[in-house]
Amino acid sequence: MLDVQSIDLFYGASHCLRGVSMGAQPGRITSVLGRNGVGKSSLLRSIIGLERVRSGKIMWEGKDVTSLGPADRARAGIGYVPQGREIFPFLTVQENLETALAAAPRGEKVSQEVFDLFPILRQFLRRRGGDLSGGQQQQLAIARALTTRPRLLVLDEPTEGIQPNVIKDIAKVIRHLARDRGMAVVLVEQYYEFARDLADEIVVMVRGEVALSGEVGSLDETAVRALLTV
Ligand SMILES: Nc1ncnc2c1ncn2[C@@H]1O[C@H](COP(=O)(O)OP(=O)(O)OP(=O)(O)O)[C@@H](O)[C@H]1O
Ligand SMILES: [Mg+2]
Repeated sequence: MLDVQSIDLFYGASHCLRGVSMGAQPGRITSVLGRNGVGKSSLLRSIIGLERVRSGKIMWEGKDVTSLGPADRARAGIGYVPQGREIFPFLTVQENLETALAAAPRGEKVSQEVFDLFPILRQFLRRRGGDLSGGQQQQLAIARALTTRPRLLVLDEPTEGIQPNVIKDIAKVIRHLARDRGMAVVLVEQYYEFARDLADEIVVMVRGEVALSGEVGSLDETAVRALLTV
């Protein structure tokens, strides 16, 4: 399991994460909610090693990964889908998937399972990433994170700017990865409804701090909504 213990993150003098604790367990989905700029992406970037926290600890499968870089955390089974997807527009779908193998053992190939989850990608293997629709690009970004078979999947706003029917497909895949494959999932979301329907646990952030967290069913919906509305 993932156990984030009271982490503090600074950007220069700006104190971005303040004693944030949260976690994720195999087979379960934890959703991180909060208004713009509260530090959701910074939390995810700290979990995957793109930001170095000043204090606190990040434990994964019983090991302290706080001082490991992103490649080592990827090797430890942590996959990441960045906000805005960040696919390579001039590389083909196949090549985009292969970029994830940089952190994998030599000779590793793209797992064919990703095409069972996202059949459209098999069809578009030779198409350039930049020529895909937003929804297809998001599916590609998720597929790329899955090529190294992570046991923890961290997704930053996978529904941002995507049509409702594709959002449904993506929700289905995320649910399947947790329920059937036993993956631990951390999902940042803007929309409460999406998180509530998908997540087991919710973490609500306000200005760099966890304001509220718990099992979805146990949280007071009005209180959660009050922390999210602008
Ligand atoms: N690399 C950086 N350098 C300096 N400040 C940063 C950096 N990245 C983020 N910030 C600031 O830290 C705060 C938290 O940003 P972050 O991107 O984590 O928020 P967020 O909750 O993901 O927002 P959004 O909902 O808009 O995606 C913001 O005030 C942001 O401007
Ligand atoms: Mg963000």
